[in-house]
Amino acid sequence: MWKGRFTETTAKVVQAFTQSLDLDWSLAGYDIEGSIAHARMLGSVGLLSAEELRRIEEGLSMIRDEISSGTFLPSEELEDVHMNIESRLIELLGPTGAKLHTGRSRNDQVSVTMRLFLRDRLLRICTGLEALLAILLDRGSRHIEIIVPGYTHLQQAQPISMGHYWMAHFTAFSRDCERLLFALESLNECPLGAGALAGSTLPLDREFTATLLGFPRPTQNSLDTVAQRDYMADFHSFAALFAVHCSRLAEDFVIYSSREFGWLLLPDAFCTGSSMMPQKKNPDVLELLRGRTGQIIGHLLDLLVTLKGLPLTYDRDLQEDKRGLQASLKTVDEILAVLVPLLAAVEVDGEKASGEMSDGFLLATDVAEYLVSKGMPFREAHARVGGLVKECLARRKNFFTLSRDEWSELLPEAGEDFFPLLSLRSAVERRNTLGGTSFGQVALQIENGHAFVKAFHEKYAIFDKRKL
Ligand code: ARG
Repeated sequence: MWKGRFTETTAKVVQAFTQSLDLDWSLAGYDIEGSIAHARMLGSVGLLSAEELRRIEEGLSMIRDEISSGTFLPSEELEDVHMNIESRLIELLGPTGAKLHTGRSRNDQVSVTMRLFLRDRLLRICTGLEALLAILLDRGSRHIEIIVPGYTHLQQAQPISMGHYWMAHFTAFSRDCERLLFALESLNECPLGAGALAGSTLPLDREFTATLLGFPRPTQNSLDTVAQRDYMADFHSFAALFAVHCSRLAEDFVIYSSREFGWLLLPDAFCTGSSMMPQKKNPDVLELLRGRTGQIIGHLLDLLVTLKGLPLTYDRDLQEDKRGLQASLKTVDEILAVLVPLLAAVEVDGEKASGEMSDGFLLATDVAEYLVSKGMPFREAHARVGGLVKECLARRKNFFTLSRDEWSELLPEAGEDFFPLLSLRSAVERRNTLGGTSFGQVALQIENGHAFVKAFHEKYAIFDKRKL
């Protein structure tokens, strides 16, 4: 393509080193889509005749067919998807084909290709996230009245509704939805017309191509357009935090399903066995959810490090942006594909969970708050109940095995209204502050959750707007 200036041909090793076909040949359809929009714009401003435009469109759609049927295989000498397709067009159409690249550079071309590709993939992730939210709402409403231990420092803290637990993950994932929408917003400008870096002397109509490709507007600064990869970094940021959320959920499930906890039951179909120990049922899926998170975080870092020292504007380093992007997109798809059916099949053994709380010490805060309701300052109540727990431990007793006489001895303030409070269920039901774990509050979260999912669906659907 640039032989005019050179006296030697490119060395073979250089061709092999600089090519990007392993990363971008699969994006050929998006490159062609961008080219059709560009050609139509050239036609509309008079840089292509109607006949030239017709032939170019015909040629591009023929190339599309050749690629999908596998009859057109790219050549390394032509570096990337963009030059392979353009040179095939020139082979087919001669000088008319050579007009397609008018007012365009691979620098704006690669950006439009990547944005179109990423938009489709992010919309697919939106659908997956919606399914994830839906299953969490379903689990949440089924498990509202199952009571499990809530933990801080991985020590039993206070009893909670299992529905509340599911909705905690729902809430984190709903923020991921917002971040994903932000990433969609961030890519949603059309780079075509930025040229190599400074725009064009030709009368290009940038609004025209933007509209055809379903972008609400063209990008605003041509230098920034070819230099920036913020839209990819925004996806990676979403992906990294999303993966971290999945990983924490996975870690909880590994713990809760272990023999020592044992109140969360993993379906056999989502576990694997041991090659040596016949009794084993291992949570490998969960471990791999945790394990793959590091790679996704790594790809965010990879891109940021690539960008950090780059002089404006385009530098070839940017070609490497595709590697981590493709890898993270694939991993996010795989996570969603396995996590949604796994969550649907997980069961909770409420009886076993209650059994784990049979000393009643998780009600210590409730006892202290009872004293507060009788007028005792909280710090004093805290110390009193702390002493009570200590005394129970010394007597080998607990909150559920102390007799009425012992209660009167150790906590004379406990009147008749105290004893009904001394149950796990009442501890959950009475935590009725907004966002708390009472059944009513959880039901409210679920109701709001349904509204959130509906609104999320409407918000992402509007990104699917292209006209080609
Ligand atoms: N294959 C290149 C990439 O992915 C396309 C842009 C090349 N531009 C250039 N000036 N060499 O970044």
